Amino acid sequence: MSRMLIAGNWKMNLTREEALSLTGKLVSTLSEQRAVDVVLCPPFCYIPLVFQGIKGSTIRLGAQNCHPEPRGAFTGEVSAAMLESMEVQFCIVGHSERRQNFGEDDAFIARKIDALLEEGIWPILCVGETLEERKADKTWSVVSGQLKSCLEHVSAEEVSRIAVAYEPVWAIGTGESAIPQQAEEIHSKIREYLKETYGTGSAEATRIIYGGSVDGENAPEMLNQANINGALVGGASLDVEEFEKIVKAAAEA
Ligand code: PGA
Repeated sequence: MSRMLIAGNWKMNLTREEALSLTGKLVSTLSEQRAVDVVLCPPFCYIPLVFQGIKGSTIRLGAQNCHPEPRGAFTGEVSAAMLESMEVQFCIVGHSERRQNFGEDDAFIARKIDALLEEGIWPILCVGETLEERKADKTWSVVSGQLKSCLEHVSAEEVSRIAVAYEPVWAIGTGESAIPQQAEEIHSKIREYLKETYGTGSAEATRIIYGGSVDGENAPEMLNQANINGALVGGASLDVEEFEKIVKAAAEA
């Protein structure tokens, strides 16, 4: 079984001082643990500061987004190559907030994945349906369509470096997490899809993590589902105690 992955997506939150303080607290509470891969994904501008803060600890550095081109006239963007040069090891792509607010489509997300793999950065690919899509019984067609298009250029050797984050859009930031069985149903379908596409070995080595209102309370049951290999945590990643509880639940799952 693959190691659990708990990634904190700070989104566009925290002042410089708060980012420093949160990093320091997380390092002191989590630096002893080795059972779980813990990744912090701060806003771009805090990457050097978090890099310094986690140095020597087991915590890893992630980013929230990247641009597929290595350089050029893309005002405001940051490339996968630049992230690599800052020693970023993971990068979230295809988050629903980017899909919705910045019009990112699967083809663009697929190019980001290619760029990240090329740079040796591990992508965290977000997929998930909206409430309307769920109500219309389209959950699996939406999720499988996103997987197929976003992973279009990915080989069986590469796929296990990707973490697929199932994030039902209706559960993000709403305090209304999917119930664990609901999440597990989709996670097991994602596993089947990966098996059919890339073979059993690659599919089993690929982490499928859940995101959407994960907190210290719902994490234990969620992380005990057969096909849930971790969590992508938004709001609760800004709270040391909550985040610590989630990491502990992952270590015990
Ligand atoms: P949330 O966010 O934990 O605040 O719901 C999760 C995410 O957007 O990755």
